[in-house]
Amino acid sequence: MEIFLDTGDVEEIKQAARWGFIDGVTTNPSLIAKSGRPQTEVICDIVNIIDGPISAEVIATDAEGMVREGRELAKIHPNVVIKLPMTEEGIVACKELSQDEIKTNVTLVFSSNQALLAAKNGATYVSPFMGRLDDIGHDGIALIEEIRTIFDNYAFQTQIIAASLRHSIHVRDVAMVGADVGTIPFKVVKGMFNHPMTKNGLDQFLKDHANSN
Ligand code: G3P
Repeated sequence: MEIFLDTGDVEEIKQAARWGFIDGVTTNPSLIAKSGRPQTEVICDIVNIIDGPISAEVIATDAEGMVREGRELAKIHPNVVIKLPMTEEGIVACKELSQDEIKTNVTLVFSSNQALLAAKNGATYVSPFMGRLDDIGHDGIALIEEIRTIFDNYAFQTQIIAASLRHSIHVRDVAMVGADVGTIPFKVVKGMFNHPMTKNGLDQFLKDHANSN
């Protein structure tokens, strides 16, 4: 499974880059707003840190406006992926951008039928929001499994980005069911390094080593 960082914080991305396993970055308008900087500036910084797909979301709500914005964002760097909302307009824009060979990520996906429509129109990625489904008492992991089955049934090339991952169990679960990508907040990735038994074991090794010298 590829691991993307879900953030608009350039400092976090710089720190994560040294780990060596970050394959890409996703942003959204809320994450960009948190950075306090214009989206174009943030994306320009990110493409210089991570050599992989970087999702930048359009703000327009009509297909024509989304395509216009998408084409502008795509000019920043070949790695830029245009994030489109899962609406009728977003799906129309997806078709047009895909025909121009601009990479797309259809976001705010909450049902497998929405994912099917995005795949039909050539989306490079779909982003089902697992955590937000769990928040309302629905079964987030079941959605990822359904989309995996549908895409495999028909050999769709569209990749599944499991999004809205809130903790390391989410990461394990989406990796188990075959998500292509997990997009993960910085602090959740940091948590993935740790296990108390690893820490205790290392403390003991170092103590024994010190006592033997
Ligand atoms: O970037 C999309 C998604 O990962 C947002 O997550 O935590 O706001 O539901 P969250």
